[in-house]
Amino acid sequence: MILRLFAALLTCGFATIAFAQQGVGWKTGPEAAAIERKVDALIGKMTLEEKVGQLHLSGRGEGFDINQVKAGRMGAVMNFVVPQEVRQVQEAVRQSRLKIPLIIGLDAVHGFSTYFPLPLGQAASWNPQLIEQAAYWTGREASAAGINWTFAPMVDMSRDPRWGRVLEGAGEDVHLASVVAAARTSGYQRGGVAASVKHFVGYGAGEAGRDYNSTWIPLSQLHDLHLPPFKAAFQAGAMTAMAAFNALNSMPATAHRGMLTDLLRGKWGFRGFVTSDFGSITELRLHGIAKDDAEAARKALLAGIDMDMMGDVFHKHLANEVKAGRVPVKALDEAVRRVLRVKYHLGLFERGDVDVAAAPSLMQTEEARKVARQAAREGVILLKNDKATLPIAPSVKSVAVIGAMAVPEDERVWTDPAGLGRRLVQPLPDALREQLPADVTVAYEPAFTRNCGTEFKDKEAAVKAAAAVDLVVAMLGEDCEFMGEGASRTDLGLPGVQQELLGALVETGKPVVLVLATGRPLVLTWADKHVAAIVQTFHGGTEGRAAIAEVLAGKVNPAGRVPMSFPRSVGQIPVYYDQLPTGRPQKIRQRYESIFMDEANEALYPFGFGLSYSRFTYANPRVSREKVAMDGAVEIAVEVTNRSERDGQEVAQLYVRQPVAERSRPLRQLKGFEKVFLKAGETKTVTFRLEAGTLGAHDDAGRYRIDPGLVEVYLGGSSLAEAKTRFELTKP
Ligand code: BGC
Repeated sequence: MILRLFAALLTCGFATIAFAQQGVGWKTGPEAAAIERKVDALIGKMTLEEKVGQLHLSGRGEGFDINQVKAGRMGAVMNFVVPQEVRQVQEAVRQSRLKIPLIIGLDAVHGFSTYFPLPLGQAASWNPQLIEQAAYWTGREASAAGINWTFAPMVDMSRDPRWGRVLEGAGEDVHLASVVAAARTSGYQRGGVAASVKHFVGYGAGEAGRDYNSTWIPLSQLHDLHLPPFKAAFQAGAMTAMAAFNALNSMPATAHRGMLTDLLRGKWGFRGFVTSDFGSITELRLHGIAKDDAEAARKALLAGIDMDMMGDVFHKHLANEVKAGRVPVKALDEAVRRVLRVKYHLGLFERGDVDVAAAPSLMQTEEARKVARQAAREGVILLKNDKATLPIAPSVKSVAVIGAMAVPEDERVWTDPAGLGRRLVQPLPDALREQLPADVTVAYEPAFTRNCGTEFKDKEAAVKAAAAVDLVVAMLGEDCEFMGEGASRTDLGLPGVQQELLGALVETGKPVVLVLATGRPLVLTWADKHVAAIVQTFHGGTEGRAAIAEVLAGKVNPAGRVPMSFPRSVGQIPVYYDQLPTGRPQKIRQRYESIFMDEANEALYPFGFGLSYSRFTYANPRVSREKVAMDGAVEIAVEVTNRSERDGQEVAQLYVRQPVAERSRPLRQLKGFEKVFLKAGETKTVTFRLEAGTLGAHDDAGRYRIDPGLVEVYLGGSSLAEAKTRFELTKP
């Protein structure tokens, strides 16, 4: 991994652009020791109010008081994206007594000026180097606009597509999510912004997928599933973290001392700071663990929260709590120390103000757009392709693109790059015209009033256009209102009147290619039966539609793989591949087996699945040794062949199962993957190294244990991988 990231660094055009800011990260050795001395000296000079100020994070907009910056009562700001405005707050710092630079934060979740696919769509590429580069360019652009901190990556694990925020994560699998967490953290920080890994912890397990809802997570699962991506991000150097909104096993995460202090600082040795989520300290009252804001502030600080995001409660109450002796000065100093430490390690004391004049030219550079195009291409998942409908055949002479989403309204989710270097995002009909032969006509009908597809503009015109062509491309899905934070859904069908349109298009009898841009896996059971082909994307960003056109036209061979199982119905949720076995497995689908009366057990499209215009086969799976000591390692190899006339990329996946152990173990668990490019007819040997130390699991007390015994290994192109080998895990 480290080697690969280094290679990515070399190929990223590091030297080609004169960016003002270099990558950021933890300094080590004498430099780190010198920073500790500087922090101590600075704390020694600070008044109580200035100390509290360092823990106060306020945001652009109504209520923002620049005088607090001038008075040294604000340590961080957020949502400033216009370089001139960033410059103003930086200048205000110089009027303060101690001139302590501000941390300037932003949700640069999948881009700043250049937009990359949503994080879930990046994960669908199964390409950590590419994901690292997407984060790098996001960090580069954001830091060129004066930002030095991003509220990302979100690494919350979720098995519930009803939750609107699955789009910010990396899907259902802990191994893939951990690799992605590390890649995104490294990329952001190499690009010049400190990462804030979030939301610590358990936010993705909200009951029923309802946002902000409580979570109940057994310790074994907390350690096996929810914590590893955080650990991976910290190991990759994440400098800050954000606490979650939810209650974890009845203790709000924002006041969870066990997680924030005992585990994060104590066991894991994290030296950075932890911010609350947006107003989550004052929400402790509503959680029912604080009678007022003063108590909320006290509880959060003493649990291990160092910064109050947009709550104003540290700012209003902490000084009093200290004066009254309810919060020890030592605890306050410790929080201030963590914030200042990050500021020094980030180099903020030496960093000049944002270069307002240079910023626009550093947005949407050719390099960034190239990475965005590649990420968009690799995030496309071909879910269905009946009778080789795709790529569009030479016999197709007319295409109708249907659906308002084909022409972008907006590719932003949160951030507003304030028009810096914004360029036109190519509409799908134009992109298709560019990719298809000149004699193919491409018509376009939006059908809906808006992207969201909740209201018809002209359904008849759309159906008429469809009936008149050889092939229909319907671009449908979820737009901003239907996905993201605060957008939990109980119905995972196409929103609004989109299903009605799709039905009418299918009724024309013309082959329909359904192109989806969504924020989560939808229930596609109807579409799977009735349309000719399904192309899934998770909003591809600036280059998204251009990449889709390349895939439809066959210029790009799709290689995205499902990062989160697609349920057949909402009633199946949670549906994920690494389930435990039951004592009543499904055999012949009869009563008293662990099945549904009215639905299959299996996902519609399982984890790891994705079609290609090529066809890949696996052969000769083998292990380097049949007995592997529990502290040792084994190499596992398999031959992958491209049995088609087209070059293509395959994602070779390795799963394990321990059929007998002390505790029940999942039916399959991903332990490795490798994206390989294979020319038509080519065979490559893919070799994985598997550390036996990764084969354990946690018990009810959170203790990790590895058990000796047989380990089955499956190799293939999805979680249904069939090539099989095995080895014996032995006591050392
Ligand atoms: C979200 C965070 C985000 C913050 C700031 C909150 O509502 O949960 O993930 O970083 O807002 O925008």
